[in-house]
Amino acid sequence: MSITSHSAPSSSRTTTAPTFHRRPRLRAVPDGVAHRHLSAPAAARDLPAVVRPDLVPTLSGDLVDYANLDHAASTPAFERVARAVETATRTYSSVHRGTGWLSRVTSAHYEAARDEVARFVGAREDDVVVFTRSTTDSVNLLARALPRDTSVVVFASEHHATLLPWRGRDTVRLPVPGSARDAEALLEAALRALPTGTPRRPRQALVVLTAASNVTGELWPVERLGAIARRHGARVLLDAAQFAAHRVVDIEALDVDWVAFSGHKVHAPYGTGVLAGRSDWLDAAQPYLAGGGATAQVTEHGTRWVTGAARHEAGSPNVLGAIALAAACATIREHRAAIDEHEARLTARLLDGLRGIDGVTTYSIFGDDSERGPVVTFTVDGLDSQLVAAALSAEHGIGVRAGKFCAHILVDTLLDEGSDEHDAAVRVSAGLASTPEHVERLVAAVTALAADGPGAEYEHTAEQGWAPVDDTRELSAPLPW
Ligand SMILES: Cc1ncc(COP(=O)(O)O)c(C=O)c1O
Repeated sequence: MSITSHSAPSSSRTTTAPTFHRRPRLRAVPDGVAHRHLSAPAAARDLPAVVRPDLVPTLSGDLVDYANLDHAASTPAFERVARAVETATRTYSSVHRGTGWLSRVTSAHYEAARDEVARFVGAREDDVVVFTRSTTDSVNLLARALPRDTSVVVFASEHHATLLPWRGRDTVRLPVPGSARDAEALLEAALRALPTGTPRRPRQALVVLTAASNVTGELWPVERLGAIARRHGARVLLDAAQFAAHRVVDIEALDVDWVAFSGHKVHAPYGTGVLAGRSDWLDAAQPYLAGGGATAQVTEHGTRWVTGAARHEAGSPNVLGAIALAAACATIREHRAAIDEHEARLTARLLDGLRGIDGVTTYSIFGDDSERGPVVTFTVDGLDSQLVAAALSAEHGIGVRAGKFCAHILVDTLLDEGSDEHDAAVRVSAGLASTPEHVERLVAAVTALAADGPGAEYEHTAEQGWAPVDDTRELSAPLPW
């Protein structure tokens, strides 16, 4: 594990003080102004457009361009995705069971969406693509489909969606690794120690890996860990929730058995996720949901279930969600080079900017030089992380996340190796709705926070957490319907 810390600023601040007082204001730079000074690289013009929000109010009364640095939590829709949904809505009808013309059109859209997602993940000929609600749903689906007595090996550093669905008895939890080598050694030892079963009933094993950490953005050494799993005859589930928007997901090249990811993290926030991969365990398992569409025959005497994706998609499927997801996958595939260039630029500046601030500590699992997506997690000496996030939002119009990011064990481990002072961290995660100006605004705001504390007075309450004391902004959220 690696922690980059910079010398502490003035010691007059404490994390326990209930209020913070005003210092001279740091003004956020309106987006248009900043852009005039930044030379956009050629590739920026090829970036796919995301649906842009209206300006957001800050405490000072300014309206500013919302700096979305919270992509690891969720992503705004691509304009193309929103258009695809709007278009498909016009012909929307029931899928699969309807005979009307529009049912046929909608069914064709649904199955074409499945094909597009299969292309996006590099599915093998006989892989199945099951539409789910989310990564959480996908992992739970596979957990329910495990053959009896399957051993599961999972690192404790996983997101709770990937850590928790496995039955305790058959699960080996590996500690948070200190390095990529350590991860390999831990996995090797765990797989070697697994029970092998009997010749008549050999035990199966599943290794659960994350492609990219939702806390640090670091890429896990999936190919090397997957090779160890293979050597021991184990299968691999890859959680690509934080990877799919940033890197090529290729089941075959990565040599994994299943991948899971969510539409809302790849600019298709319409309630769809995916589990793609081997069909044998899924076909042999009880349907995830019992109901219409998953059945081949139902009589007084029993039920015969279909195999394939439909076995686990009972009920009327989320067709518009599937179409949205397919449109996002197609968009990412077409704009890959520009996305890579944009994100590499933002990541480098985020790391460089935050690591250069006195009193800021950044965190990593595998070491500061490990490859990562556009995510950086940090703490500020003497400031509660939730207060930092509240001030970034209220004073600067910057959206980030503070807490433990549904990866409590990993965050506790990283923070324990830091100063001991913090029980939560701040995560910034850039993406296609982030601009270079957003990153500059963040670096300037964190620099000011680390040096002087927040620019307004905040109080902490059990209901609201940290909130500005004098906040005259009205939360204006006219209902969209
Ligand atoms: C690495 C990782 N896995 C799984 C999930 C769960 O995704 P969802 O909330 O879409 O089910 C998340 C969400 O943040 C994540 O970051």
